[in-house]
Amino acid sequence: MQPALGFADVSLAFPGNGADTLALDRVSLEIAPGKITTVVGPSGCGKTTLLRLASGLIASSSGHVTHKGALISGLNTGVGYVTQDSNLFPWLTALGNVEFPLAVRGVPRRERLERARHWLHLVGLDGFESFYPAQLSGGMQKRVAIVRTLIYEPDIVLLDEPFGALDAQTRMSLHGELLGLWERTRCTMLFITHDLVEAITLSDEIVVMTRRPGRVKCTYTVPLARPRDVFQIFLQPGFDEAYAELWTHFKAELTAA
Ligand SMILES: Nc1ncnc2c1ncn2[C@@H]1O[C@H](COP(=O)(O)OP(=O)(O)OP(=O)(O)O)[C@@H](O)[C@H]1O
Ligand SMILES: [Mg+2]
Repeated sequence: MQPALGFADVSLAFPGNGADTLALDRVSLEIAPGKITTVVGPSGCGKTTLLRLASGLIASSSGHVTHKGALISGLNTGVGYVTQDSNLFPWLTALGNVEFPLAVRGVPRRERLERARHWLHLVGLDGFESFYPAQLSGGMQKRVAIVRTLIYEPDIVLLDEPFGALDAQTRMSLHGELLGLWERTRCTMLFITHDLVEAITLSDEIVVMTRRPGRVKCTYTVPLARPRDVFQIFLQPGFDEAYAELWTHFKAELTAA
C-alpha cells in the first residue's frame, strides 16, 4: 500500500551563526494511511521539523518528502496541521475559528455554520460557540484548534504536541475525543509527543527518534487492541511490555553523552 507520507533519506541543515544546525540526518520513514503514527524523541531532535517538511512550509537539504507518492515541492494543502501552539484567531469566536477553513474554501455560510456547530458539539463545546479564544480554557482552545483542522476533512492530520500543556485529566478526556474523531474519519494522523503513555494510548505505530541530529532509531507497532479505554490504559493487556520497551529506547537518547 502506498504510504500517506514518505520521507526518503531526508536531511535538513538550518543555517546558523557560523555553523549550520543539522536537525535531521538521513531520515527514512513511511507513514501508513488511515492509521495513527506517533513520533517521540528528545527536545530538539527534529520532530516539529518533520511536520513542517510534510506541510511544505520548509524544504529538505537532501532526500525527498512525498504525499501519496507525489513529491512535496511547495505548500501542501492536502494536510491539516495543528501546530505546537493553538494559533487560534483571537478576533474570531470559537464558531468563527472553526468555520473559517470552510469559508476559505467557498462553502456557503449556512452550511459552514451548521458543520462548525456539529464539530464543536462533537468535542463538548455546545454553548461556547460565541466565546473568543481568550475566554476559553487551555483544553477548550485545543479542542477548537483540532476541530478547526478536522472540519475540512484533510486526509492527513499533523498534530504537534497538541496536549502538552494540559492537566492529566483534561489530556485523558481529549485522548478519548481524538480517538472518537479518528474512529469516525479514519484519517491518517501523524502525532508528536514526548509522552510515552500518550503515544501508546493513541497510536498504531510509534517512531522513536534519536537526539539531534534526528534519525529514526526504531519503529514499534503498538499491540494494544482497539477500542482503548483512555482512562485505564495502564490496565490494558500489553501496556506494561510496550512501555518498558519504548522507555529502554527513549532513555538511551536522553542519557546519551
Ligand atoms: N527555523 C529554524 N532556524 C534554525 N534552526 C532551527 C529552525 N527550526 C528548528 N531549528 C533547529 O532544529 C532543531 C530541531 O528543532 P525542532 O523544532 O524540529 O525540534 P523538536 O524535536 O520539535 O523539539 P521540541 O520537542 O522541543 O518541540 C533544533 O536544534 C532547532 O534549534
Ligand atoms: Mg517541537
